[in-house]
Amino acid sequence: MSQSPFRPDVLAGKVALITGGGTGICHGIARALGQHGAKLMLMGRREEVLKEACAAFSKQGIEASFVAGDVRDFSQAEGAIKATVSHYGKLDILLNGAAGNFLCPTEKLSSNGFKTVIDIDLLGTFNMSRAAFTHLKAAGDSLILNISATLHYQGTIMQSHVMAAKAGIDALAKNLACEWGEHGIRVCTIAPGAIGDTEGMRRLAPLGADKRIAGEVPLKRLGTIEDIANAALFLASGAASYITGEILVVDGGAWLVKPAFIDKATWEKLAAKS
Ligand code: COA
Repeated sequence: MSQSPFRPDVLAGKVALITGGGTGICHGIARALGQHGAKLMLMGRREEVLKEACAAFSKQGIEASFVAGDVRDFSQAEGAIKATVSHYGKLDILLNGAAGNFLCPTEKLSSNGFKTVIDIDLLGTFNMSRAAFTHLKAAGDSLILNISATLHYQGTIMQSHVMAAKAGIDALAKNLACEWGEHGIRVCTIAPGAIGDTEGMRRLAPLGADKRIAGEVPLKRLGTIEDIANAALFLASGAASYITGEILVVDGGAWLVKPAFIDKATWEKLAAKS
């Protein structure tokens, strides 16, 4: 891991609750928040995974605790918020990272399969944000940070459930930014592109598709968890204190690319003849 571009105390005194913080991108974000002074509460469905993650953080000098729960259930969302506030005394940063994903053509997707992803991603983001409101308002200068995607900027096949869920998260974030700004709550979103060495890439880009994707990204590489963690640190820091309702795309320019009408080598041949 390269040296952080941020001051190590940039989040000193802050308390962050991270859903989906036991593994993957959100685990990496949690570590970065902790390494920069925040105290952490990890939430997820699997207690053993959370316990292991906290033990690893503790070895790195990061104060972390966990609460097992499912963001789909409002009472469990409330329980996680209460556990955070009773453990640390307050809540400053809510990171909505819990998500479900799988590839499935829409004509083969069951109604319950579609609903499951909507419930985890979109309803889960609502449940956690709604349950956290009073405490984020009390903390002031607080942040809801959502993890979305770029899939829904165009049509991504076999991802109708995820596209619908992430588009909903983006819309909800804009609404909350408007409604809750007056209470000192900022609401921001990160839209990661293809991030290497993650469960998402293993599921969504199997059989070496990640190498092809890396070649198609304008910056010519897959993203790293550190790229996303740095974006989260920026949005959580005082440097972003006038930014709310914003979606920060961190994808190396990938979503901007369209298939070319002709390739460059063909153009060079045509240009040489003219
Ligand atoms: N293809 C099609 N449908 C699927 C599916 C797949 N790969 N995985 C789940 N579903 C459907 C199930 O068939 C079920 O619908 P049904 O009742 O009509 O059969 C519905 O989704 C719920 O599945 P279930 O496994 O009971 O839900 P769950 O709450 O235990 O887990 C996920 C749902 C999405 C979290 C699960 O797929 C999962 O564990 N994913 C791995 C974690 C993950 O997605 N991480 C994010 C990486 S980006």
